[in-house]
Amino acid sequence: MTDKIYNFSAGPAILPVPVLEKAREELLSLGGIGMSVMEISHRSKPFEAILASAEQGIRDLLSVPDNYRILFLQGGATLQFSMIPLNFLGADETADYVITGAWGKKALKEAKRCGNTNVIFTTAEHGFNSVPTQAELRFTKEAKYVHYTSNETIEGVEFKYDLDGGGVPVVCDASSNILSKPINVRESALIYAGAQKNIGPSGVTLVIIRDDMVAHVPENQHSMLDYRLLAENNSMLNTPNTWGIYLISLVCEWLREQGGVSAMEVKNQEKAAILYDAIDASDGYYTGHARRPARSLMNVTFRLPSEDLEKQFCTEATAAGLDGLKGHRSVGGIRASIYNAFPREGVTALVDFYAGFC
Ligand SMILES: Cc1ncc(COP(=O)(O)O)c(C=O)c1O
Repeated sequence: MTDKIYNFSAGPAILPVPVLEKAREELLSLGGIGMSVMEISHRSKPFEAILASAEQGIRDLLSVPDNYRILFLQGGATLQFSMIPLNFLGADETADYVITGAWGKKALKEAKRCGNTNVIFTTAEHGFNSVPTQAELRFTKEAKYVHYTSNETIEGVEFKYDLDGGGVPVVCDASSNILSKPINVRESALIYAGAQKNIGPSGVTLVIIRDDMVAHVPENQHSMLDYRLLAENNSMLNTPNTWGIYLISLVCEWLREQGGVSAMEVKNQEKAAILYDAIDASDGYYTGHARRPARSLMNVTFRLPSEDLEKQFCTEATAAGLDGLKGHRSVGGIRASIYNAFPREGVTALVDFYAGFC
């Protein structure tokens, strides 16, 4: 393994080394059964145990109450942008959307195809550099749900609180900060996240959904889009992503060994502080995109004095073993993604590089 590369990619992102080592160890023969996890039936006893372990892992780590179902679906977080309105927003009904970045905008676009949408707060006019306070949010009384993105991966802005819908069911896209800190699952009716940042590999989407939402799914929904059917079949209405779910079970085990999500939060705060402090200490050479209260612990976004310098920064960083720092193509700049598995030494290596570059 080339352990000199620090992978700052926004996703698919770095996985914990012990997880990859365990997967390598078991690649040809899972738990002594003589076959790979990718070669066994999803209806087999060994796979049933893996699915149960992944589910229990998520339930324990996030203290998911018993009246929520945990699903491992396909189609990415992007399919959830459609499944949510297809299941919960009728043509004459309204859903609230809080738009703090590019992913929220994409979710809104899909919801508009199904019913009425009300953008109750947006930071678009400020280039998505902040998030609202709870007090700034006014929900539509009859809204079927309110959707928000707890961490906008592209702009690097993060909610520091679990949004309270004041009676309106809350739907949260937590793709890029799930498992990075404790959350109060009870505040949300549905939480979803593509796995490829903090949970496992791409190709699995975690959905945590409250029982009463499952009960609200309209009759005659297309089977693969029907949360009720998917829940009744324990994520196995069709062949699930067995390899992805296996890796999720290993990531959960690793997180437990690390002390769970509270311990991760402390580490994540420390790592992010190292980067933000260096940005703030650069006398304006580096400028952070997000306003301070909304600074993401997962995706640190910043600019240099010119695009040419940003290009040079990325090229030289890659040569120095710091990979994946180019900002998203839609906003440019630099983005350092420092998810749970990202080592502190990689953060200090980047700060050393910063100092030498400016
Ligand atoms: C916050 C957020 N939502 C949604 C998505 C889309 O996820 P997927 O590629 O799994 O559809 C991403 C991907 O990076 C994301 O960061």
